[in-house]
Amino acid sequence: MGETLLVTGGAGFIGSNFVRLVAGKRRVVVLDKLTYAGNLENLAGADHVFVKGDIAEPGDVRRAFDAAEGPVSVVHFAAETHVDRSIEDGFPFLRTNVLGTQVLLDVARERGALRFLHVSTDEVYGPLAPGVFAAEDARLCPTNPYSASKAGSDHLALAAHRTHGLPVIVTRGSNNYGPYQFPEKFVPLLIANARDGKPLPIYGDGLYERDWIHVTDHCEGILAALERGRPGEIYNLAGSCHRKNLDVARFILKALGKPESLLRHVQDRPGHDRRYGPDPAKAARELQWKPRAKFEQALAETIRWYDENGEWLDRVRSGEYMGYYERHYGDRLRSPAPPHTR
Ligand code: NAD
Ligand code: TYD
Repeated sequence: MGETLLVTGGAGFIGSNFVRLVAGKRRVVVLDKLTYAGNLENLAGADHVFVKGDIAEPGDVRRAFDAAEGPVSVVHFAAETHVDRSIEDGFPFLRTNVLGTQVLLDVARERGALRFLHVSTDEVYGPLAPGVFAAEDARLCPTNPYSASKAGSDHLALAAHRTHGLPVIVTRGSNNYGPYQFPEKFVPLLIANARDGKPLPIYGDGLYERDWIHVTDHCEGILAALERGRPGEIYNLAGSCHRKNLDVARFILKALGKPESLLRHVQDRPGHDRRYGPDPAKAARELQWKPRAKFEQALAETIRWYDENGEWLDRVRSGEYMGYYERHYGDRLRSPAPPHTR
């Protein structure tokens, strides 16, 4: 089975999908702090060793390496990930995404990790004009505390390669959808609200555009980069599937047989990035990887998954989440957005 994969953030959305993809074929140790976004239920049935701990604590990271018992490659997902929360309070983002990544890099070097795959995002390129695509050497222009902290962690990971020779590979994925995504994010939030007959909050005019990738395609790209990527290199993992938020929202309503009157334009996100557009050419060329999902079909399957897993949705929408929902959406949904903010 080769080396053990130390998967940080393996109890979150993409991490748990990645563990399910490799479990049984690779030995897996998961290191996760189990924040509000981490849930052991996401890993049920996937063979792994679980270590509860914080990537920003060297002792916790060393315990995870000890649990691996042998050569290790790190696949680093753990992060604070929600843009709106980062606007509310940037500090946890800096602590986990920046300091935590540095701690992990240092312990990986100390323990002679074989490879270090740093999972990043297309959001580090910032907003792009229509028709413009960002290749891996494009200027980084993060606009919110989440994307700024991810850009910082990308630089630290690449610096560990240049200065210490740690075999680091960076991937930059586009917006993921699929099962087990925490329902604060756009797709599962809209599905959950539509199921309950509640309004769907659409920021501003809803004409913001994202490149969507199915989580399984993203995980296969991460595995391809781990196995075939060149140390010191960055690979965009793009779904190459651009959709406007309003179109995604309408698709969800139609799939669930709900009326468009549930769409509710609300006060926009400050500094909201209009469009992302990662260029997928390098990953296709060097990793022989391409996303396989067809968006409308895979989104319909995703909607069915949430519809059939209503109990999972109910359990993860815990006290902490309900507090966040009221803080973030309470006033927005009670008062319509002034026209100039749409
Ligand atoms: P998520 O929020 O669903 O999960 C994050 C996981 O990390 C949780 O299990 C959480 O408990 C854990 N975690 C948080 N802080 C930790 C800490 N200090 N120590 C240990 N564990 C900690 O996130 P996700 O959507 O699965 O994203 C995973 C990674 O992929 C992130 O690095 C994110 O930046 C990146 N990414 C996400 C997307 C997307 O669309 N979701 C796109 C591109 C890249
Ligand atoms: P999100 O899932 O937060 O991902 P990101 O901001 O990291 O791309 O949001 C996806 C898009 O959906 C983004 O343009 C913001 C928008 N959005 C809404 O319109 N309403 C919402 O309630 C949320 C959470 C997001």
